[in-house]
Amino acid sequence: MSRRMPALQAFIDDLRAIWASEPDMGARMERARPLMETLVRNRELQARSADWPSTEGRKNLLLYVDEEHEFAINAVVRVPGRKGSVHDHAHAWVLYGVLDGTESLERYERIDDRSREDFAQVRMTSVSMGTPGKVDLVPPFDIHAEQGGPTRSVAMILRSTKLGSITQRQYDPVTGEVRPGPGPTQIPFELTG
Ligand SMILES: [Fe+2]
Repeated sequence: MSRRMPALQAFIDDLRAIWASEPDMGARMERARPLMETLVRNRELQARSADWPSTEGRKNLLLYVDEEHEFAINAVVRVPGRKGSVHDHAHAWVLYGVLDGTESLERYERIDDRSREDFAQVRMTSVSMGTPGKVDLVPPFDIHAEQGGPTRSVAMILRSTKLGSITQRQYDPVTGEVRPGPGPTQIPFELTG
């Protein structure tokens, strides 16, 4: 079996130690955040990502799933100017860090009375520039969008559980339509090194 890239293996080992010693998922993700910041500043990983395949068509590269603790490590590769949907990640916690290029990270709040399942009014509350080294923590059910920048961009993602078969919601900020559906298609991707 080929050896995993050392920087990725070290990240996994550190995450496993956190998950083993800290039961609260929010606290785990807060402790994982500086590790993720270090990972996405790793020059070798940034260089390696230059030839990763595009994930257009709602795909994620799947680098790792922890069989004991359930957390998953993904990557996304966006084409220049990619329009991202407004969505949530259901009950999953997510750390999102740009590895290469830039992205706009938008956050939204829901302003209707939540009386309907199929309708939601959402309003953008902030937009921040995602640059290599910046990591965004997205709690469960938080509504947000990631927009591509002027060049190809790559991001690393740590999720508390693998998405794909879990129902997530997309929100249309114009019509208010709420569309439940499966998450991104998971494409197994080995990073050896
Ligand atoms: Fe997201």
